[in-house]
Amino acid sequence: MSESSVKTIYLKDYQAPAFELEQVKLTFRLFEDGATVLSVLNFKRCSDKNEQALYLHGEDLELRAIKINDQELSEEDYQLDSEGMTIPYVPAEFVLTCETWIKPQDNKRLEGLYKSSSMFCTQCEAEGFRRITFYPDRPDVMTVFQTCIEADKNLYPVLLSNGNPIESGDLSDGRHFVTWEDPFPKPCYLFALVAGDLYCQEGIFETCSGRKVDLRIFVDHKNANKCDYALDSLKRSMKWDEEVYGREYDLDIFMIVAVDDFNMGAMENKGLNIFNSSCVLANTQTATDMAYQRIEAIVAHEYFHNWSGNRVTCRDWFQLSLKEGFTVFRDAEFSADMNSRVVKRIEDVNFLRTAQFAEDAGPMSHPVRPASYMEISNFYTLTVYEKGAELVRMLHTLLGEAQFRAGSDLYFDRHDGQAVTTEDFVIAMSEVSGRDFSQFQNWYDQGGTPEVKVSSSYDADKKQYSLTFTQSCPIGVADSGEKQAFHIPITLGLIGGNGEDLPLSIADGQSSWVFELVDETETVTFEGVDSEPTPSLLRNFSAPVKLSYDYSDEQLLFLMAHDSDGFNRWEAGQTLSLRVLQTLIQQYQNKETLVLPERFIEVFRSIVLNKELDKAIVCKLLMLPAESYLIELSEEADVDAIHHSREFVRAELSTALRGELEALYYANANVNINTSTGLDFVAMSQRALKNMALSLLSASPNKQAVILAKQQFSTATNMTDSHAALSVLVNSGDDSAAHAALSEFYDKWHEDAQVLEQWFSVQSASASLTDLEGLKKLIALPDFELSNPNKVRSVIGAFCQQNLVSFHHESGDAYALLAEYIIKLDDLNPQIASRLMMPLTRWRKFNTNRQALMLAQLKRIHGKDNLSKDVREVVEKSLP
Ligand code: PHE
Ligand code: ZN
Repeated sequence: MSESSVKTIYLKDYQAPAFELEQVKLTFRLFEDGATVLSVLNFKRCSDKNEQALYLHGEDLELRAIKINDQELSEEDYQLDSEGMTIPYVPAEFVLTCETWIKPQDNKRLEGLYKSSSMFCTQCEAEGFRRITFYPDRPDVMTVFQTCIEADKNLYPVLLSNGNPIESGDLSDGRHFVTWEDPFPKPCYLFALVAGDLYCQEGIFETCSGRKVDLRIFVDHKNANKCDYALDSLKRSMKWDEEVYGREYDLDIFMIVAVDDFNMGAMENKGLNIFNSSCVLANTQTATDMAYQRIEAIVAHEYFHNWSGNRVTCRDWFQLSLKEGFTVFRDAEFSADMNSRVVKRIEDVNFLRTAQFAEDAGPMSHPVRPASYMEISNFYTLTVYEKGAELVRMLHTLLGEAQFRAGSDLYFDRHDGQAVTTEDFVIAMSEVSGRDFSQFQNWYDQGGTPEVKVSSSYDADKKQYSLTFTQSCPIGVADSGEKQAFHIPITLGLIGGNGEDLPLSIADGQSSWVFELVDETETVTFEGVDSEPTPSLLRNFSAPVKLSYDYSDEQLLFLMAHDSDGFNRWEAGQTLSLRVLQTLIQQYQNKETLVLPERFIEVFRSIVLNKELDKAIVCKLLMLPAESYLIELSEEADVDAIHHSREFVRAELSTALRGELEALYYANANVNINTSTGLDFVAMSQRALKNMALSLLSASPNKQAVILAKQQFSTATNMTDSHAALSVLVNSGDDSAAHAALSEFYDKWHEDAQVLEQWFSVQSASASLTDLEGLKKLIALPDFELSNPNKVRSVIGAFCQQNLVSFHHESGDAYALLAEYIIKLDDLNPQIASRLMMPLTRWRKFNTNRQALMLAQLKRIHGKDNLSKDVREVVEKSLP
């Protein structure tokens, strides 16, 4: 593809479709060398349009026959281009019948219809349906689908599509068919088909109106014992959406299918969700607690899409955050309700600040609603998902629970069955509250992370305390022109000398208040303040901004101990740790001796000894800021200094607190996974704390931790403990212990894909894998397949994103290796190739030597022949 042929699509060019579809009938005939797709599309010109020409998307299709009503079309009657077909003259109402031949067996892009292991499955979001048949592949064309699937009965006894089965039967030659009908109009990106020899785990959910819904989870037979948790999670999600949002499920069947080859986590196809195996399959032998929590969240996320995404969908792909931001917000609230609200918030904010803030500061930075794109697959980003969820959260904060719910009810009611925009969502929130959100709209249309600087002053005579807020937003490489001020909700409180929240004069005596910063600079004054308080700002991280206030170390310690906002207690600790780490990084760079302040050790000692706090919170308090976050905060990131300083802190804490950490370890060692409570949040927190203690213990050079880890490894009754011990051994520097554990683990688990992925990533993410030879050995294993995205992520992805010292080795060899695999993958699976680009897009963060090495690899990738749109967009935006 030549450079000029990649066109940019603009939101401002949006035009409503000229033709609508009244219904669609599809017949799939699946064979071992390919598949025929027969489509019968009932078109009707929209009443306000007069276009004569019809455009249908279609890519990599072999067209076998096409007719309009009873008239066969010949080659003069239409024009084909690389992205579809134009039929210059069509009547106002007509039936288009079309037959295509496709090759699912050769489809390694994993878009459209493809084969994963022995089953057929589809992935149509965002633009995969055009790889199945000619069609108006855009989300604002919604219609009802009837789908008939024909296949060999022995090889593919299970034939699934959206909606309800209405007919089935045997055909000649050992074949059979099933016909499905989905009564809800939908865009084609929500279409799905599955054919395979699958085990089915069944369940039942009774909805709030008393309807019984059949729940079915389809998996490979060998995974029959890995379905329980997903099924339970599904039931909890269905109940929660009824209780919290008043949303009842609408079909009689809800199905989930697990597939091994999948580009993303999972997909919300109407009534037939398709999941990456790693996001649905679990039992205590094979899945870690982290995997359990991921499964619960993703099952909920996809289920919640049934309303936020399917019943009400996106008008065009610029509106992607309409469904994704809202649904991430919904799944986060669900997880908060199921587990711990504060812990969930800490995890989400940590992720947002590390990964989304970095994206927002890089060359792929874009607003939550982008103004343009070349390849929409590149916009399934942290900004659209995670920052988009923060925008919904801010509306929730501004409106309060009850009004937010009224707004959500209005939105679902008013737009049921429609394809709408992010404005429609905000308008519903505005109407129920009578509030003006026109400035809030800037959050959707302006990229970048706003910065808020806060200063305070106290007047003892007048008993007045004032806070002055100033906002700004940096202009990034991807931005054009000035930015307008944001509407920023800042939840805050003032804490008095005794550690209690002061009643706030400005908020009728309440102790927490949402200050709305709308101008560039604003000052608020609190009356009747007897002595200078400590401000607690941006409680619960009420807006996705970088807020700074010049706290003293004493104030941070005070907030850690007293803030009534759990998130801000943790935040104060993080700020302290950051200060310490940033000083050490400087010392390292100046070749000075590193010293960890005694006081910092005492803070950690008191956390380790704290018996009052939730164990999960203690765990979060013991967590040092990640290397990737330290990189994101640096002007010019010195990866070696960051790594060594952070490891130094861990080693010092480990030595100084050895006795306390060992006690903590043993106090939490007795969780039996086989008890009925083994998977509840309390049990999970206890395991997390024990393994945190083990990990910290292993940071010092003493051998005791290795002995403890070996013992845990050999006696573990669940994957959480086994995996944690393995990770400690791999990182211990004791090569023989690491080797022994790795081979034992491999022998036991190499046939289990989910566990094998963990075996791979434990190694590639470990800084003990210092040379590229180690990585190449993993890639060379027969268990590694470039065509399987999970393997690519767990080996190459984990290495580049988590093993930062090795990836950024000054030789630049790792950059070259990454480029080599991006180039290979570009021909196989452009979406995955494009996602792997991310670390190279961050070249501006590093020193000039590394910048040059990274740029050289970007240029090398750019020079590849037939570069996909996906990779081309990212490379071209990244090059200076
Ligand atoms: N829509 C899916 C989700 O967020 C993600 C996805 C996008 C899956 C594109 C596959 C392809 O739930
Ligand atoms: Zn989603």
